[in-house]
Amino acid sequence: MSKLKVMTVFGTRPEAIKMAPVVLELNKYPDLITPVVAVTAQHREMLDQVLHLFSITPHHDLDIMSQGQTLFDITTRAMQGLNQVLAAEKPDIVLVHGDTTTTFAGALAAYYHQTAVGHVEAGLRTGNKYSPFPEEMNRKLTGALTDIHFAPTLTSQQNLLQEGTPEANIVVTGNTVIDALMATVDKQYVFQDELLSRINFSSQKIILVTTHRRENLGEPMRHVYQALREIVREFSDVEVVFPVHKNPRVRDVVKTELGCTERVHLIDPLDYQPFANLMARSYLVLTDSGGVQEEAPALGKPVLVLRDTTERPEAVAAGTVRLVGTDREKVHQQTRQLLTDSEAYQAMSGACNPYGDGLASRRIVQTILFRYGYSGVKPEPFA
Ligand code: UD1
Ligand code: UDP
Repeated sequence: MSKLKVMTVFGTRPEAIKMAPVVLELNKYPDLITPVVAVTAQHREMLDQVLHLFSITPHHDLDIMSQGQTLFDITTRAMQGLNQVLAAEKPDIVLVHGDTTTTFAGALAAYYHQTAVGHVEAGLRTGNKYSPFPEEMNRKLTGALTDIHFAPTLTSQQNLLQEGTPEANIVVTGNTVIDALMATVDKQYVFQDELLSRINFSSQKIILVTTHRRENLGEPMRHVYQALREIVREFSDVEVVFPVHKNPRVRDVVKTELGCTERVHLIDPLDYQPFANLMARSYLVLTDSGGVQEEAPALGKPVLVLRDTTERPEAVAAGTVRLVGTDREKVHQQTRQLLTDSEAYQAMSGACNPYGDGLASRRIVQTILFRYGYSGVKPEPFA
């Protein structure tokens, strides 16, 4: 029996963080699997940070990122590059992750080559095609092209079943983000970064902030930053640490609203290791990120989500995450409450981890081996 060729395709920071444990797991079976890593590099620096941390050297790097790239740029460049890679490699299955434009292009390119598609982090839905934009449709369209759906939770499995996906094609695995997080957060971790190493986490309340969603660009983000300015003015024991996304459309507004504000630290995107450990030591997280919404609850950190919808309802139901949107008054009021009302804070800060147990990547690789007849053991789903 010849070896199974499994190609992973990813391109942005979050995909890389969540696919790295899968790549490392695939590497454990050199007698059965030939792993091929293809990156579109829809992100450049933010992708390279993760590749470096997990010591992954891609076999193919399309290097497509351009400043101010449009959705059309990403889709067409990724499709053209992947066409050549797929023609040369002829994998048995292509694994894509999540909901970015790289994800959708990866699945579509594989389909055009009549190659099987495995979708990691399948089945999350808001039900609103423009929120998050374009991620909701990227994920849904990828699902339509997928042969094996690796749903992280029962909720995501349920979403797929409701859309008519055959149950036999869905495996509930847990989210690989928890695999990555468990391998990265360490109580003894020492920050190398000068600013982070100077912070006194016991006397100061650290609010960790990230923003990048396309639907929040411009005024919605401005309103959030104005609320934050009011918060630091009101609370002298609060410091904001804000690793600012590389997107110039984010950076410009951040600089205008929060540049030179006392106790607001605007820094470049952090490597995943310091970022995850900073999150573990923060008081509160404000974010529009998908991945951070999954990580912070596992670390017992309350999250105010700067969005109107979420495809990750599990931690909202558990009470660790609140959807607050981007209205200035609401963001201010909700942040203020968590700084002044210890009961409200305690109610949100109990660690809850509906997203995984650290074994998702193993389940994914075991499932592939089982499906293709390379193993007789069908893995138990994540409960
Ligand atoms: C993309 C994904 C989004 C994901 C996010 C994670 C799409 C449509 N969007 O959004 O789903 O949540 O990544 O962060 O797939 N840039 C750099 N260096 C980098 C990364 C980005 O300079 O390392 C700048 C470039 O100018 C680039 C811009 O950021 O054009 C926007 O990047 P893009 O991938 O188009 O969108 P994101 O908002 O990052
Ligand atoms: N992250 C990071 N450095 C940062 C900010 C975030 O490593 O400065 C990590 C974070 O821990 C999470 C992922 O990046 O795993 C989330 O990426 P992002 O918010 O860009 O995308 P999304 O998850 O919304 O698609």
